[in-house]
Amino acid sequence: MGDKISKIISLSKRRGFIFQSSEIYGGFSSCYDFGPLGVEMKNNIKRAWWDKIIKEHENIVGLDASILMKPEIWKASGHLTAGFADTLVECKSCHKRYRADEVDSEICPECGGELTRPRKFNLMMKTFVGPVEAEAATTYLRAETCQGIYVNFENVLNSMRLKIPFGIAQIGKSFRNEITPKDFIYRTREFEQMEMQWFCHPKTAAKYFDYWIKERFDWYICLGIKKENLRVRHHKKEELPHYAIAGADIEYHFPFGWREIEGIHNRGDWDLKNHSKFSGKDLSYFDEDPPAGGKEKYFPFIVETSGGVDRSLFVFLTDAYQEIKGGRTKTTKAAKEIEILLKIHKKLAPVKVAVLPLVRNKPKIVKKAKEVYRLLKPHFVCQYDELGSIGRRYRRIDEIGVPFALTVDFESLKQDDLTIRDRDTMAQERVKVENLIDVLKEKLSS
Ligand code: GAP
Repeated sequence: MGDKISKIISLSKRRGFIFQSSEIYGGFSSCYDFGPLGVEMKNNIKRAWWDKIIKEHENIVGLDASILMKPEIWKASGHLTAGFADTLVECKSCHKRYRADEVDSEICPECGGELTRPRKFNLMMKTFVGPVEAEAATTYLRAETCQGIYVNFENVLNSMRLKIPFGIAQIGKSFRNEITPKDFIYRTREFEQMEMQWFCHPKTAAKYFDYWIKERFDWYICLGIKKENLRVRHHKKEELPHYAIAGADIEYHFPFGWREIEGIHNRGDWDLKNHSKFSGKDLSYFDEDPPAGGKEKYFPFIVETSGGVDRSLFVFLTDAYQEIKGGRTKTTKAAKEIEILLKIHKKLAPVKVAVLPLVRNKPKIVKKAKEVYRLLKPHFVCQYDELGSIGRRYRRIDEIGVPFALTVDFESLKQDDLTIRDRDTMAQERVKVENLIDVLKEKLSS
């Protein structure tokens, strides 16, 4: 893995973003725990997505369906059959498995052993419901959140009195028994998805497909991802998943190459038609105002946008990570050091404000700084830090991307004010404590 990725992994652990799952037991492969900063950042990503999708569109509503569902759903969706399987080869000697498309020889890249012929491996995670581990009690952890949306199509349509076109959005965990989870949190067996399903007239689906690709691409750009690191790649016919009639990936340029971070698919009428067939419930829609006039009964087409919370967190961390050789903090010692700066968008930054007493051996300054911290805490995610020189503390908060640092100094005691330092410009200004909450709110929302 690239040098930059190793540094991000190290920073993630050192500063409380991401830990290996079950670490004290030797680690549990491909599962990760999000630490105090990781969980804040994840919540910020989910909030930014939810606000964009739900608040900025008139006809999209939310849903939170359960992870466990009737196994018939996964038959109808095609996940239990050929569609949702990877082709793998296994080393006859060390038994390591590889996706067939990832090895280009007949011997194991790890130990040189002979590889088996390719065979299909289904990615669904099996589990049992109830006390008996029998076939009849088998179900699956969901492999994508959207199936919970399709099977609730009618419930949402009727309870919310919606008309086509409209969307249903959901954020939640999904599980896949990936053969080769890798690249840190890029491909894991448990992950969170942010999915929106747009139900529309079949003749309008192509138009909405283009619309949603642009919307989703712009979301990453608005949250600070550099344009040169983002691209859209349209799928060739042979690449399309079993349910789609058109598909495109939004890809990010990771240090290990261009990789998918979100998929946009025109799923046609695959989902509602199949769930109608398997459940016996007619999910077609009676349109009293179709584009061509008259009245029409049809299975709505679905355009979906499907992104990963964990994967986009990885993108936001990678894109924000910078190393600056000296110069930012102008002390002689600092000038010789590499400073890490996480130039993360203010909306996504896990900690918004740091409160720093200039020195810690002056009780009046410490007392005032603590008062400011307590004043701000109900309004912003804040940190209080009094340990080490002020330069070192600035570097510590730059490393986790805190947008604003507040320094309480001798002047503050006389004037009831303090200095705000901007992470990106390093410009400093004095602000009265009484105006602080409003000033910070404005700065954080601009
Ligand atoms: N409902 C369509 C669907 O699930 P997908 O392309 O298989 O489409 C969509 O997945 C997104 O979910 C991906 O772009 C990625 O962000 C996330 N994702 C999928 N598998 C993942 C995994 N094993 N680990 C982390 N994220 C994953």
